[in-house]
Parts: sequence; C-alpha cells; structure tokens
Amino acid sequence: MRDKQGDTQQMNIIVVGAGYVGLTTACCLANSKHRVTCVETNKAKLKLLEQGLSPIRENGINRLLKQGLASDGLSFAPSLPKPLQVDIAMITVGTPSLPNGAAALSYVYYAAQELRNATEQDLILAIKSTVPPGTGARLIKRYFENTPITYVSNPEFLREGQAIWDWYHPSRIVIGAEDKQTADKIRQLYFDIDAPVVLTDITSAETIKYASNAFLVTKISFINEIANLCEAVDANIDGVTKGIGLDPRIGPDFLHAGLGYGGSCFPKDARALDSSALNKGYDFRLLKATIEANTRQRIMAIHKLKQALGDLAGKEIALLGLAFKPDTDDIREAPFLDIIHLLYEEGVKLRIYDPKAMENARPLLPTDITFAPDLHSATTGANAVVLVTEWQEFIQADWQSIKEQMQEPYVILDGRNALAQNKLIGLGFRYIGIGRRVQT
Ligand code: UDX
Ligand code: UDX
Repeated sequence: MRDKQGDTQQMNIIVVGAGYVGLTTACCLANSKHRVTCVETNKAKLKLLEQGLSPIRENGINRLLKQGLASDGLSFAPSLPKPLQVDIAMITVGTPSLPNGAAALSYVYYAAQELRNATEQDLILAIKSTVPPGTGARLIKRYFENTPITYVSNPEFLREGQAIWDWYHPSRIVIGAEDKQTADKIRQLYFDIDAPVVLTDITSAETIKYASNAFLVTKISFINEIANLCEAVDANIDGVTKGIGLDPRIGPDFLHAGLGYGGSCFPKDARALDSSALNKGYDFRLLKATIEANTRQRIMAIHKLKQALGDLAGKEIALLGLAFKPDTDDIREAPFLDIIHLLYEEGVKLRIYDPKAMENARPLLPTDITFAPDLHSATTGANAVVLVTEWQEFIQADWQSIKEQMQEPYVILDGRNALAQNKLIGLGFRYIGIGRRVQT
C-alpha cells in the first residue's frame, strides 16, 4: 500500500455482497492492486461473475472485472473463507425498505454474524451498506465486543452508471471510527484517491450518508414544487431554475424539475431516515413533506393527461422510459411504476418502451400492457406520449415522423423537461412540461 509519502502496501480485502456498490468496490480496489475476494450468495450472479460477466450494467465495470480476474487480484466466492485472513472486510449487502419504511437490516446482521464467526485474527470491518444512525453502535454491542473485529462506518456516495468515476473522484471520503489508527488504515485503502477526508465517529458517519441523500431529495422536491408554482402563476421553470441555480449558495445541481426521484437509494433512504428519526422520538416533518411531494409529483402526470385528453378510458398512450434514470436498466422505485398502474386503472391502452429496462419491468406489470420493440412501434397510433426517463434516444428522436404516425390530439407530456418545447409545438404537438410556461 502506498501512502501519501509513497510507501506501498497491498491489503487483503473481503467484500460481502456483489450488488451495485459491492461489485464496484471490489473491482476498483482490485484495480488499485489490493487483493480482493468478493462474496456473493446468489448462485446465478456468482456464476456470471466467475466468468467475468457483470450481472449489473455499470460503465467500465466489465473491463475492471475481467482485468481483476486475469490478474488474480480479484476473485469471487459463495461464502466467507474460514478462518478469515484479511486486513479489511467490507459489508455491501442491500438494505431495502420494510413495509413501514424502516431499513431492513437482516442482510447486514447476517453478514455481521458470519464475519464474527469466521474471524480469528485482527481485522477492520468497514460497513458501506447504508444503515440508520445508531446501527453501528448496536452491531458492535451485539456482535463485536471482545472480538478481534474493529468496526468502522465508511459510507459510499456512488451514482449508478457513474459509480467507477465517482469512486476515483469522490467529493469526500467519510470515515467514522473510534480511533485514529483504524481510520488511518481505512484512508490507506484509498491511497490513490485525492479527496478531502472527513474523520468522525461512527454514528455521525452514518448520519452524513442519510443527511446527504435527504438534502438531495429535498432539493429535488423543492424544485418540483417551484415548477408546480410556476404553472399556477404562469412563470417558466427553465428561467427560474437558471436564476436560482447561479447563486453559489444554492448551485445548479439536483435542481431539475420532473416527475420525481426514484432509484435504489433516494426513496428508501428518505423513508428509512424518517422512520428511524421517529423511532428516536423526532418527527422529521420536512423530510415527510419531501417524500409526499415526490409521490404527488408522479400522480400529477395522470391529472395533466386528464386535462389534455378528458376521460382516459380507451385512450392510446405511449409511455417512454422505465429505468429510474437514463443509462441504467435499474427500475427500482422508478416513477413509471406508479404512473403505469394509475393509467391502467383508468382503462388506458398502454404501450411502453425503454431502450434497456424492458425485461426488468415485465414481471411487475399486467400482461395486457404492450411492450413495444422500439420507439416508433410504441408511439404509432398514440393519442399521447409520456416521457418518463430522459434517454438520449428520445431526446434525439425524429419527432416529426413520430407525430405523423400519432393520432389527435398529439399530446406530449415531457415528464423530464428534456425535449425541445418550441420545436415540438411547431410540429403541431400539444406540449405539456413540468412548470414550463405554455407557449401561445
Ligand atoms: C447498496 C448498499 O449496500 C445499500 O445499503 C445502499 O443503500 C445502496 O447500495 P446495492 O448494491 O444496490 O445496495 O444492493 P444490491 O444490488 O441489492 O446488492 C446486494 C448484493 O449482496 C446482492 O447481490 C445479494 O445477492 C448480495 N448478498 C446479500 C450477499 O452476498 N449476502 C447476503 O447475505 C445478502
Ligand atoms: C444517488 C446519489 O446521487 C448517490 O450519491 C447515492 O450514493 C445513491 O443514490 P443514484 O440513485 O444513482 O445516486 O441516482 P441520481 O443520479 O442521484 O438520481 C436519483 C434520482 O433523482 C433519479 O430518479 C433522477 O431522475 C432524480 N433527479 C436527479 C431529479 O429528478 N432531478 C435532479 O435534478 C436530479
């Protein structure tokens, strides 16, 4: 491993869970010449990984995976080796939502127990899975007191699709540890990464992760509310966003109005923080309002379509975009899930299309919804088109030929304010955006 002075020292690392975060973590650490074993309990995923095939879509992951396997720096296993002889163990298993919104920690508890049972010599356990503030303290008490395991919180801030870039260019490295020596060892793990380091206690590190996501979702819901206000007062969200985003205290990022946030982290983490705050006796009302605003934003698509089309029963609507954001096939908590079910209940004849996420969506949807093979098949004959995910394919589409194949009243609901409004209006579309002023 090379520290800032240039000494090199390779570490042996075990990563538990090869999901979006775990696989990126394992591949990047191996790429930095650590020796990494990644444990994955799902047999189908494990088989793919051992063949050098990534079960997830992530830019650059296949190359790192193949390189890691070829160099012997990266390997996969169905369970922890016993006894476990590594410097650092990382937990990257999922923490999905329970029905009451709280984070389901059973995978984390299971991984913690397994690690305790396998460990006979000193090691640092760094947890990357997102766990509510106070979880680390409980895990230490329950499993790790009087064991050779030293517990550290080391949250991740990786965006899907850009996870490898984010790994090598983080805005900060957060380390929650009980002693400086342990924190220094975790810092060495990232020896080749130049970033500010925030050293803090375990519970504060856990809180940083949730507070970051809570702030970002609040920013998104805020701009969505402002977009709705723009519609009420006849202002234009495009100019408003520009005007407020240029204030460096506000900043332009995460200020894009649309049909709301989705994905594997924001919705579940917002709910989990709300739930865990309530458990501790604090009613986090701002966060509740943010979550509610996000749900409302999705439902608003149906109201807008009703205003434009009247009764929706029997209307032909093409829904474009299933992935929770472009360039991924991940549909976890994607806005289309709510929107499609509401349209389906209204009796709409639905055709849907996404460049990458169709197969993931199929098991979740009624069988009489048409999965169109391409954009034109989806939109041909449609009374309205709803753009839910801003894939480049949609932004760059030939909207004139799409319009020629559609039926009256040629509605386009641009749920991401991603399309060229004036051009579409010029083509004869009835364009509806999110807070975009209606042109006359
Ligand atoms: C991660 C984090 O860990 C989560 O807390 C954070 O909020 C978002 O990012 P993610 O990588 O998206 O979650 O999880 P997922 O794609 O569900 O992957 C978890 C992997 O761990 C799966 O492949 C699963 O099979 C595996 N797993 C789970 C194990 O190998 N062992 C287990 O005991 C449980
Ligand atoms: C997010 C966080 O950015 C990352 O730091 C964390 O570790 C995991 O969760 P990710 O889920 O990959 O990453 O997606 P992100 O690009 O942040 O977008 C999340 C959602 O917010 C998407 O549905 C996106 O459409 C929506 N969004 C984002 C907006 O609606 N408006 C915006 O301005 C930005």
